[in-house]
Order: sequence, then structure tokens, then C-alpha cells
Amino acid sequence: MAEASPATLGALLQDARRLLAEAGIAEAALEAQLLVEHFTATTRVEAIAAPERPVAAAAADALMEALRRRRDGVPVHRILGYREFYGLRLTLSPGTLEPRPDTETLVDLVLPHARRTVARTGRCRILDLGTGSGAIALALLSAVPQAEAVGVDICEDALATARANADMNGYGARFRALWSEWLRDVEGRFDLIVSNPPYIPTADLDTLSREVREHDPRRALDGGADGLDFYRAMAQGARRHLAAEGAVAVETGHDQKAAVEAVFSACGWRLVVAARDLGGRDRAMMFRPQGNA
Ligand SMILES: C[S@@+](CC[C@H](N)C(=O)[O-])C[C@H]1O[C@@H](n2cnc3c(N)ncnc32)[C@H](O)[C@@H]1O
Repeated sequence: MAEASPATLGALLQDARRLLAEAGIAEAALEAQLLVEHFTATTRVEAIAAPERPVAAAAADALMEALRRRRDGVPVHRILGYREFYGLRLTLSPGTLEPRPDTETLVDLVLPHARRTVARTGRCRILDLGTGSGAIALALLSAVPQAEAVGVDICEDALATARANADMNGYGARFRALWSEWLRDVEGRFDLIVSNPPYIPTADLDTLSREVREHDPRRALDGGADGLDFYRAMAQGARRHLAAEGAVAVETGHDQKAAVEAVFSACGWRLVVAARDLGGRDRAMMFRPQGNA
């Protein structure tokens, strides 16, 4: 009896698209492409130029298993084990939040301050509170070669992943991972203190999508009763870690701008600049101590 002919790249891509669309996945075509490229070790150009290319049975089986997990609600980047952020490939682990494109808004917001600091002092010391995969700190290190960063987290697994991501992307010499409950064990002063903190009100956690609820760590999301716990801690404690002419900057939920500004203002901070994400929603703010220009 003749052996079954191997699956082709084009056919697998079509199957993957169909299976994900049937499961109601909004970005079925994009996710199918990501999974097929990953598990067959091919590129988009190859899928277009050589759809008849045969795919080894082991790779096709691994892809089918990945599609089954995706249909079961595992996010595509958790299956891949990495996500791109600010042009960097960042490994994910159970203790890390999946970095989101919205957070790139915060990176863009603080870059002018970081660059001005370098122009003034020759360097920029950055503290990233709740560093997770290291996303914000490493994005800033990639954009500002004279910068150095300390990434703080309370999760050992996240810190190990951030450390590995720093090494993998070539920023290991300028990045330090530090276990601390927010600012408690932080020493020294920084030109920029930045954070994408947990900011979801506790009661809202159950309303998040299944993918977020089941795969992003709860402590990366839970911002306390009103979602503002971290902002209060930062507004109260950050000043003693701020260098002359330093700034603090935070990501917020899209409906938290006024509340977060009020928290910082009550503790003697002045809003310097704010930014919206690509969807036009309020997303990031930078503050300086009141009285400083
Ligand atoms: C929303 S995630 C942000 C992760 C990463 N910065 C990003 O933008 O993708 C918040 C991070 O804060 C950390 N975290 C939560 N509570 C903390 C605490 N008390 N002290 C330090 N880090 C904490 C979590 O482990 C998580 O990594």
C-alpha cells in the first residue's frame, strides 16, 4: 500500500486558519500564520512562494497539538513561549505577564526624558517596578545605549525570565534583576522610575477574558479594591529614590487617568505629559515633583 503523502505548507496553513476560525478566534488568520511558521520553522515568504513544500510528520503533529491547545483557550503566545515587544523577542514563563502592545505607549512616552537625561549627565538610571518579562526595562535599554536598568519583581520566576531575556537580547551587562516588594529593598536614586503595575480592581478580575484569567498571573493583574493600590505606594515612596530632575511614569487602565493623577497630585507630584494607546485610550502618564520645572 502506498504511504500517505506528507502534508504541505499551504494545506496546513489553510487547515490552521479554518480550525481557529471555527473556534471563534478573532485573529484566526494571523494566529494560524504564527503557529505554522513556528512549528514548521518556515517564513511567511516561504508559505507564499512554496505552498507545495512538504512538512515532516513530526512538525505537522506538533502543529495540530498546538491548534488543539489554542482552541482550548491557551493564548497563542503562551503556546509559542515568547512574544515580541518593542522589536525584542521576550520569553514568557508562568510567572510573567504577557507584555502587551499598549505598554509600548509607556516606553514611547518616557524615551524623550531618558534621552534628555543622557544628554545632560551621560547616562540614565532606570528602575522598572514589576518588571515581569523585563519588557519595559529592556525596551528602554534597546533604545538608549547609555541607560542601565534595575528590574524589580516579587515573583522569582519572573525575575529569572527577565534576567534570561536581558542576556538573550544582549543587554545583560546593563540590567539587574532585584527581588523586592515594590520599593522596600530598593537602594539608590534613579533618573526614571517606571511601571506597568497591576491595576485591575479585584472585583473585576472574574470579568476578564478566560485567556487572561487563566494564563496571566493574578498578582500581575490585581490592583486591590479600587485598582489603585500600587499608584498610592509609588506616589508616597518614589520621591526618596528619585535623582535630581528625575521623573516617574506609569501605565494605567483606560478609565483611571483622573484617579491616578489625583493620587499623585495629593502626594506632591505634577503631571508632565500623558499619552494614549493606539486605540485612542488614556494609557500612560509621567510625573515630576511639584515645584520642579
Ligand atoms: C502588570 S505586570 C507588568 C509586567 C511587565 N512590566 C509588563 O509590562 O509586561 C505587574 C508586575 O508586578 C509584579 N508585582 C505584583 N505585586 C508586586 C509587589 N508587591 N512587588 C513587586 N512586584 C510586584 C508582578 O509579579 C508582575 O510581574
